Amino acid sequence: MSADASAGQAAPAKASPNGPTEETVLSVEHYTDRLFRFRLTRPQSFRFRTGEFVMIGLHKEDGKPLLRAYSIASPAWDEELEFYSIKVPDGPLTSRLQKIQPGDKVLLGRKPTGTLVLDALTPGKRLYMFSTGTGFAPFASLVRDPDTYERYEEVIVTHTCRDVNELIYSRTLIDSLKDDPLVGEMVGDKLKLYTTTTREHYGRMGRITTLIENGKLFEDLGVPPLDPATDRAMICGSMEMIQDVKALMLKAGLTEGSNAAPAEFVIEKAFAG
Ligand code: A2P
Repeated sequence: MSADASAGQAAPAKASPNGPTEETVLSVEHYTDRLFRFRLTRPQSFRFRTGEFVMIGLHKEDGKPLLRAYSIASPAWDEELEFYSIKVPDGPLTSRLQKIQPGDKVLLGRKPTGTLVLDALTPGKRLYMFSTGTGFAPFASLVRDPDTYERYEEVIVTHTCRDVNELIYSRTLIDSLKDDPLVGEMVGDKLKLYTTTTREHYGRMGRITTLIENGKLFEDLGVPPLDPATDRAMICGSMEMIQDVKALMLKAGLTEGSNAAPAEFVIEKAFAG
């Protein structure tokens, strides 16, 4: 979740103890003309659960903060904070955010929240994380958390983008995990990344909704069809994608969960702000 299209909320003035803190940009990496990631300093008091989102942004010319909901892409144990963002040329925030350089300041809200957390799901055998575009961000956090592998025998991340080069972030990140000192050994054969494109030719093409409906996803992975007895799912992408994948989960007999009432699948709620 990281789009100018997502619902933002005006934060209290900077002087307020509840207002955003100013964090320093540590690194910036551009993947395509539409996508980039950056890392920020993390205040010692900033606590979150892997998979949550937080408001981040910049000061406007009038000095007021302009904030949007962003999934935290780094895991809860990381000393830094990572974000994965789209660049919208005329987007109020991302038109400026895409120009940040190491040393610059970015505003960070104080109250991370969200439903894409392991505790919002009941125990199961296989965890699916369905993502499109920058919706991969919360899963970049979850695949780096040992808890994910302690709770599930199998972890399947799907990432669908328009073009092949929009898959670089997810592919390099997942690839790097086998050498990760913390989760490297746990990941083993447990974690599978299933990537598809919809607009540029690629080995595997198609919307994830189509691939669930026609069963190709399960066939390709060599797993049985969705079953509420064994399967759990998290969904993050555009609002339409979330609704469409949610409908398929319900059709398969899975029940939607929340922090208050954990169940069999959860959806990103950052749009609700
Ligand atoms: P498509 O190219 O067919 O629109 P975006 O960059 O617009 O956020 O899209 C990211 C990916 O999500 C694209 O591959 C897009 O496919 C796919 N997508 C868009 N809407 C849906 C939806 N309602 N259900 C499933 N996939 C979708």
